[in-house]
Amino acid sequence: MNSISSNKSLNLSGNLIVPGDKSISHRSLIIGSLVNGRIEVNNLLESEDVIATSNALKILGVKINKLNEKWEVFGSGIGNFFGSDYTLNMGNSGTGARLLMGLVAGSDVEATFIGDESLSKRPMKRVTAPLEKTGAIIKGETNNLPIKIQGSKIPLPIKYHSPVSSAQVKSSILLAGLSSLGKTTIIEPSLSRDHTERMLKFFGANISTHQLDDMSWKITLDGIPELMPLDLNIPADPSSASFPIVSAIITPNSKIKVLNVCINELRTGLYKTLIEMGANIQFSNDREICGELVADITASSSFLKGITVPKSRVASMIDEYPILSMAATRATGNTIMEGVEELRYKETDRIKTICEGLQKIGIVTHDTKDRMVVEGIGPNAKIIGNVEIDSNLDHRIAMSFLCLGLVTEKAIIVRNTDTINSSFPFFMHKMNKIGANLKFFN
Ligand code: S3P
Repeated sequence: MNSISSNKSLNLSGNLIVPGDKSISHRSLIIGSLVNGRIEVNNLLESEDVIATSNALKILGVKINKLNEKWEVFGSGIGNFFGSDYTLNMGNSGTGARLLMGLVAGSDVEATFIGDESLSKRPMKRVTAPLEKTGAIIKGETNNLPIKIQGSKIPLPIKYHSPVSSAQVKSSILLAGLSSLGKTTIIEPSLSRDHTERMLKFFGANISTHQLDDMSWKITLDGIPELMPLDLNIPADPSSASFPIVSAIITPNSKIKVLNVCINELRTGLYKTLIEMGANIQFSNDREICGELVADITASSSFLKGITVPKSRVASMIDEYPILSMAATRATGNTIMEGVEELRYKETDRIKTICEGLQKIGIVTHDTKDRMVVEGIGPNAKIIGNVEIDSNLDHRIAMSFLCLGLVTEKAIIVRNTDTINSSFPFFMHKMNKIGANLKFFN
């Protein structure tokens, strides 16, 4: 396992392209396998998580090939997966595991899902419980991998009130619902990322979203849609873009531009928050690609002030609290993050890993079960650094602390950085190209 040291840097500058969106990449392969024919996918994120999904689909019989820069997926229509005794190794990927559980639940397939140490600790009952209602049989353990699922060829169309706003839960149920003879309905407390809905609509499914009187959201899908084979272009990942963007904001004399970033409003809560904190961020060249909004994002060095980030914003920036917490250390005043309990169920308990890491560096933090506070020390106060942080197999924790290391007096060393490849291959190379000083460390 590698380690990286992050060293004081100045003048980050230039244009960069970050890898394709992770959520959309998983979906392009999974939903692509259900269309009627062959599609090409451009700018697929070739990270360990997405490759795990690709390998699992191949085990289930899907033909997927890499052609130079593009990927091709041969869809065989809905309801055409068969067989038993499959073992699907989802590695570190919660999205891959939970979405494919939905696909298996709605197919004549029996499969066992396994994963790495981090994934094996993450809660799966949130998907296995609704999938059981569709008629899938969960054999044995229902919450932690390994989990064995026997799907049903014609699942029941269900109406499910999800207790959490989770795109993984919603997408898993929708994928099972694709092969049922009726309408599948999901109600979630606030709207989570809608890439599954957008992609299904792009391919021709009948799927709609409405807000209800109590402010929750209802998503309804008609079963057995005819999905047309259309090629996909995947925009850059706004979650990955957040690392160079926050680095430029906190590093003196910096200005960078990240190109072709997905700016779906259910993904851009961090950018809204940073702008409220006083960050210089501009969006330009807005356009729509394959049902998703895309823009270039320019960010430059900024003086930040601490704010309260409301619970209503959690779903739109769920993966960005680690990097926001790093920006918050440089703000004047406290940044209060409300309603963030879901962070405890990510690749690590992110509230714990962020707070412990920041405290090591001398930053004061407070946390309760669902709230986290970072006491900012202002842009001019010195943070010594000179600490080692373990990634705990969490890619976003690793990248976040490496970004903070660009402004500490002495290096921050992050241990076990291979995990960065699960979402951002060539992270160190791309960051160094804009002027960051990251080095492999023994
Ligand atoms: C994802 C949804 C989010 C997010 C994850 C990717 C997806 O998880 O944290 O990185 O692609 O659907 P939840 O839906 O569980 O919040």
